[in-house]
Formats: sequence, structure tokens, C-alpha cells
Amino acid sequence: MIPISRRAFLRLCAQSLAGLSLSQQLLPLAKAWSAAVPVAKPPVIWLELGSCTGESVSLENAVNPDLYHLLTSLLDIRYHGLLAPHQGQAAWHTLEETARNAAGQFWLIVEGSVMTGSQGRYNEFWPTPTQSITGLALVRQLAPLARYRIAVGDCACFGGPAAARPNPGEAKGLWEVISQPVINVAGCPSHPDWMTGTFSHLAWYGPPPLDAYQRPLLFFGNTIHNLCQRRQQYEDGIFAKTPGDAGCLFKVGCKGPVTHADCPLRQWNQGTNWPVRAGAPCIGCASPDFPDGTMPFFQPLTARQVPGTPWPVKKLALYVGGAAAGGIVLHGLASLRLRRIQRHWIEGTVPLPTSPPTASPSKRRTPTWLRRLKQKLRRLLSKETKE
Ligand code: SF4
Ligand code: F3S
Repeated sequence: MIPISRRAFLRLCAQSLAGLSLSQQLLPLAKAWSAAVPVAKPPVIWLELGSCTGESVSLENAVNPDLYHLLTSLLDIRYHGLLAPHQGQAAWHTLEETARNAAGQFWLIVEGSVMTGSQGRYNEFWPTPTQSITGLALVRQLAPLARYRIAVGDCACFGGPAAARPNPGEAKGLWEVISQPVINVAGCPSHPDWMTGTFSHLAWYGPPPLDAYQRPLLFFGNTIHNLCQRRQQYEDGIFAKTPGDAGCLFKVGCKGPVTHADCPLRQWNQGTNWPVRAGAPCIGCASPDFPDGTMPFFQPLTARQVPGTPWPVKKLALYVGGAAAGGIVLHGLASLRLRRIQRHWIEGTVPLPTSPPTASPSKRRTPTWLRRLKQKLRRLLSKETKE
């Protein structure tokens, strides 16, 4: 038998688990790509709305498949603000032609949040120098014609940083402004694998299974916390005091327990690293309520503000606890004042009748306050008759 330390055993378990999960997640895509059965490349209209172009830049970091394969073998991107081969009216003409001739076939991919304030005037397209259309109007025109609607990045999915307070442009996620189903590939930016994986799944197998926020379960089916390499330290109560320290980063603001994504397994930059491994707490960039709901970034989850109130969770719990304690004290004082406590604790509680009260109504004991009231009335009546 080979002796093995507890630490080595735990590492082995974690590695096996990671290997199993990864192979399960990547197998269908790897099989599809290795099968090399040609797929008809779907025409794609890729819109940039209220966006920093983070997803387009992230996509350039894709490796399996890489951007070249994506463009040559998987997608027929007809219109894209950054990657389109032509510009201006020629690009717009391609967009219109695709929407008209490939209705029901083209995929509408949206990057960036939809600006809804001032009838969408915070985000406009200019097909000609004298004519404009808002991003809001454009997605509403194109969405019913598309085969699939895919929101990439937290802004397009849920509003993201563009929708952070005070949100003057009234930025919203795509699924909030159209009535057709949307696939939300979250993240800020979205991981290239999450995008290429979703596109590949759509092309080869159709829509992937989704969670309640319409995110593919393939990538967002588990919490960061459940997959994290520092989870054992969380269980053992070993916490970092500042970012960069060893130990679980919960006390310096990690939102891993409430964020669904596979960053700990997949990692970024071709599996080089991910925030927690680099010593930075997860700020919940794949969450539907990022960033307002995951702030303050460097304070523990208990410091998060309760939605709709100005108080953090911990403070509200203190207020509620304090109010409950105050209520108990007040109730006690009132009971003393009204002599309820004396009656029950000092004079003794009246035992409940063992048989139903209707069976022996005459044996029921009269309450003390009623007896006293009766005595007082009797005394008053006897005084009056003497007079
Ligand atoms: Fe969970 Fe974050 Fe701690 Fe990892 S670092 S165990 S995700 S709280
Ligand atoms: Fe984002 Fe957290 Fe992953 S901040 S990149 S979801 S570790």
C-alpha cells in the first residue's frame, strides 16, 4: 500500500473531480468538432449596443475552437460592428439583406445593454447620414425574425455595469425588452469558451439546457464556491485577511457562494489562472444582479445591501433582532403592569379543564379579574342598600 497524506488525498480528489467535470462538459463539443461533419453555417447579425466590446475582444482569445475556425467553419457573420469587412451604408445594406432573405434562419447575437431611456436615444445606429434608428427599435425589429437570440456578456443579459446606479440611460438586458426567448451567455466579459461552446451546441445539437436565468447549465450549472480550490480552507475556517493572502477570500468580499460559473475549472487565458487563484475575490461578474447586487466588492456577503432598502444584510438582521428583543421586553413590562405575570407565575396558572368545558360548565374556575370585579360590585351594591 502506498502511504498518502490527507493533503495529497484531498488534492487527488479535487483533481479527479475537476477532470470528470471537465470531460463531461467538453465531451459533446470535442466529439462534434472531431466528427468534422460539415454544418451549414448559420448567418449571424451581431449587434453592439451599450457595450465596451468586451465580448468581441474576449472572443479573440478563444482557443477551442479559435476565432479563425469560428469564422470559417461555424458562423457566417454577416454583420458585426468590429469584425465586418465593410462599413457604413454597405454594412447596413448587408444587415437589411440578411434580415430579409434569411428570416427565420439567422442568429441575432447581442452584445451590450439595450438603452431604453429617452425612447432609446442613448444608443443609435445611422444607416444614412440623415436617418437613425435606436438600438432598442432595431432589436425589437430583428428579434421576431431570428432563429435564435443570444445575449453575450452581462450587459446584454441583465444590464450589467451599464445598468449600475444611477443608470441614466435606463440600460436593460435583451430579455427585458423583447418577448421572444433569449439565451443568456453571462460574464463580464463572457469567457470565450462560454460563447463558442454555446454557439457550437446550438449549431450541432440545438439549444442547450438552461437555468432559470436562461444561462446554459453546461457553464453556469454550479457555484464558484462549490468548484473552488480554496473551498477546504472555507470549511476549515482559514480566511485571508487581505486580497492576495492565502486562505479563503470570503471575508475580503468573495461572491463565489452566490455566483454560478465554472471559472475554477475552466480558468481564463487558456487555463492560465482565475481571480481567486490569483488572490482576488470573485466579484460575481456572471450574476444577474452584477454589479449593484454584488457590491461592495471587497466586503463580505453579509455587508451586501438588502434590495429595496438602504441597509446591508448584517445591519438589517441587527435591526430586526433588536426590534424583536424590544418587543419581548415591552411585552414583559406590560404583563407585569397588568399583573398577568403575578397571576400566572405567583398565584399559579389555572389548569386547563381535563374534560370539554361543555361537559361540566359549573366546575370551571372564574378568572381572578372577574372574581375581583364581582366582589367590588357586591360591596358597592351592599353599601347602596344600607343607605
Ligand atoms: Fe468560496 Fe470564494 Fe472562499 Fe473560494 S475563495 S471557497 S469561492 S468564498
Ligand atoms: Fe467573474 Fe467571479 Fe469568474 S468575478 S470571472 S465569475 S471568478
